[in-house]
Amino acid sequence: MRGRVTGQAMELLGSGASRISVSRLFLSTPAKAAAPLSDRRFRSTSSMSSYTELARERSKTVTSFYNQSAIDASAEKPSVRLTPATMLYAGKSPDGQHVLSSGRYLHKELPVRIAHRIKGFRSLPFIIGCNPTILQVHELYIRAYHMLSDFPAIKDQETEARYSKLVKQLLDDHKDVVTMLAEGFRECRKHITDETLVRNFLDTTLTSRLGIRMLATHHLALHEDNPDFVGIICRRLSPKKIIEKWVDFARRLCEHQYGNSPRVRINGHVAARFPFIPLPLDYILPELLKNNISVMPLVFSSRFGFGLPTSRAYAEYLGGSLAIQSMQGIGTDVYLRLRHIDGKGESFRV
Ligand SMILES: Nc1ncnc2c1ncn2[C@@H]1O[C@H](COP(=O)(O)OP(=O)(O)OP(=O)(O)O)[C@@H](O)[C@H]1O
Ligand SMILES: [Mg+2]
Repeated sequence: MRGRVTGQAMELLGSGASRISVSRLFLSTPAKAAAPLSDRRFRSTSSMSSYTELARERSKTVTSFYNQSAIDASAEKPSVRLTPATMLYAGKSPDGQHVLSSGRYLHKELPVRIAHRIKGFRSLPFIIGCNPTILQVHELYIRAYHMLSDFPAIKDQETEARYSKLVKQLLDDHKDVVTMLAEGFRECRKHITDETLVRNFLDTTLTSRLGIRMLATHHLALHEDNPDFVGIICRRLSPKKIIEKWVDFARRLCEHQYGNSPRVRINGHVAARFPFIPLPLDYILPELLKNNISVMPLVFSSRFGFGLPTSRAYAEYLGGSLAIQSMQGIGTDVYLRLRHIDGKGESFRV
């Protein structure tokens, strides 16, 4: 892939991401506290008491972030990761038993994985963990933890159907988490003294989130009947087709923004097909194209510096790699390597 991408057209790729509205915004100072000092000194007892009331309410909310013994217990348990081969060959039974056992696995596994993530949020440096956007994500995880661990055991198809509905709802509630984290960390950039700590937190949080979403989406997809797929695993994924899909998307955005778009040539083993999971590629490919397709260099305003590190973390999580070589005045080569999932040799785990 050669060529430099910049530009507003690409902002559109990440748009449509409406922010989740969380009814309570934690740690936000009550508006009254911002009143000038002179006003505050002469505040009536009633307004003082409402101020105390608010402060008490706020500290109750803050306490709820660490007074969570169920989460502590789950966070101590190890997570059980699956190989794609296991997911692929788990078998399809006509009576739907495979869906029930997948649901039971999720029912046990999701709270553990989510508890690990909550532990990660708690160990962030205080000033970063207090950022309202990061706190919103932290709260989303606490909420998901409770909703999933309160769910009754999956004993029949009816409970499984309700469980799947909840999982689907949560996937949707959490769809903007990457953007929110990018925003949150940008907002508190000046407080970040240890870049490595933040990078490790983001790599772990985002790859674990990818794993959770792959498992959840896999479970939901097991209900569907598509001969090319077993859950989220495509038996004969065509790299050319999936690249084309995202190239078309990026070109349409370019066209819309600039009235013009570059032509893209796909060379190599264009007829190749192999079993793979398209879901992570649906993140990585548009990110790479966002950086590389553009008509002219333009504004960088919405750029978080998130695309490449996250894509690399995803590629490595999947046992592959992402390498970039830029040559000034010439262009950029991007190497995305994927690992086979056909069961021969070492595989990664989801
Ligand atoms: N094709 C490229 N050629 C030259 N430099 C690049 C190329 N792709 C990325 N970069 C450089 O690497 C930086 C990081 O890229 P990355 O995709 O992680 O972040 P971003 O594009 O700035 O923001 P975001 O992806 O979060 O919107 C870019 O800001 C740019 O400086
Ligand atoms: Mg980018």
